[in-house]
Amino acid sequence: MKLNQNIAKLKLPENLKIGLMVKEYRNQHPNQDDQGCYSFELGQSPFPVPKTIQEAFKLASDENDYVQAEGLDLLREKIKSFNQAHYDLDIPIDRILIGPGSKAIIGILIQMLEGHFILPTPSWIGYIPQLNAYQKSYEYMRLSADDDYKVKPERLRKVLENIDGPSIFIINNPHNPTGAVYSKSELMALTEVFRDHDVTVISDEIYAMTTYEEGVFTSMAKIYPEKTFVTNGISKDRSAGGYRLGSLILPEEKSEKLFKIFKTYASILYSNVSTPIQVASMTAYDDHPQITSDMIDARAIHRMVGRYFSHYCNEIPGVHASTPEGGFYFVIDFNGLKDHLYNQGIHTSIDLSYAMFKEPYKVAIITGDAVGLDEDDFLVRVAFIDYDGQMILDAYRQDQPRGESEESRFILKHMSHMKKGFEMIKQFIFDLSHNNLNQ
Ligand SMILES: Cc1ncc(COP(=O)(O)O)c(C=O)c1O
Repeated sequence: MKLNQNIAKLKLPENLKIGLMVKEYRNQHPNQDDQGCYSFELGQSPFPVPKTIQEAFKLASDENDYVQAEGLDLLREKIKSFNQAHYDLDIPIDRILIGPGSKAIIGILIQMLEGHFILPTPSWIGYIPQLNAYQKSYEYMRLSADDDYKVKPERLRKVLENIDGPSIFIINNPHNPTGAVYSKSELMALTEVFRDHDVTVISDEIYAMTTYEEGVFTSMAKIYPEKTFVTNGISKDRSAGGYRLGSLILPEEKSEKLFKIFKTYASILYSNVSTPIQVASMTAYDDHPQITSDMIDARAIHRMVGRYFSHYCNEIPGVHASTPEGGFYFVIDFNGLKDHLYNQGIHTSIDLSYAMFKEPYKVAIITGDAVGLDEDDFLVRVAFIDYDGQMILDAYRQDQPRGESEESRFILKHMSHMKKGFEMIKQFIFDLSHNNLNQ
């Protein structure tokens, strides 16, 4: 058997092994009630799929037809109405397609588009393996805490001035992993640069509906409709990652041609997104009170937890944490402790992630090549979701905290495991700063 080496040689970032280590640890310690290890590496909503969507899925189980590759008209109509209601977008359904998760859609776009890709980093862990798999030319743009982890127009202009030929910019808003959210005026300022350099944009808006403050999020489809592809889905805000349902808005420019190309390629690759999932997802895009209330409460819990723990980390001497405005991640910057890290044999951020996972800390985080950072760039991603989502949702509804002090009380009462995990991060930083890592 001879294998295509482009495929056979693909590998996942080294750092993603941490997730496997957590699984293994938990398998080996089944009776420890998970207390021995803190799983801050996984990027998945902890909440259940809203009941109404689950019911719709059960009812759709006899849907056995192959259907059109772009997605059922009625589902795309529902997505159109959802876009109108939540993002003030008026997009006809012949610019809307669906795919098996936004990841697969992004993968197709990366394959489809010719040119040089620009990826702000740290980034979501999904883009880089795809850029590699499809052998694309790309470069990173390291985001800085001084810029609130957002791309500044002047910097982008400089990067673009050095690129010959077409370029594609990937923006993720709200941002995994820093939690940054761009304001409308920031997007408009970037768009001026995009227009000057004729840039195509992939705007990954999968966390749009998790933006903590209402009215803050603006879709790129509103600001730069002519050349932006917008991807979204139901994985994060409706907690249905396993359903694998993503959506795409095509740019205005050449939309008819793009529609045909995407549809043809989708049909060659996977025929159509699972029909029962499409039918169930029609409900996911309905304006249903139960789904809306699940989404609102999940978002409020992410805000409460994210703000509490990023503030907690920012109080720890030696490190700096980003303050999330959406999603369920923030980053902690350990670069100020480089001397201590080197002193204790930690030379790469991958070493750092393994050190943090050792006894007694047992904290799993993601860093390094997985998020597009140099190996000696010690920034770590923390996903603050290591709790039982259903239990927390019930507790939140019974005993809704109002104001900062009640929120702190809620977290201490209901999220003691997560609190312990962050105490372990603090302990790790303390031991590191005193050249006394306990391992
Ligand atoms: C920034 C970002 N984009 C896209 C995805 C993929 O989402 P989906 O489940 O729609 O494929 C994720 C999932 O972790 C993500 O964090």
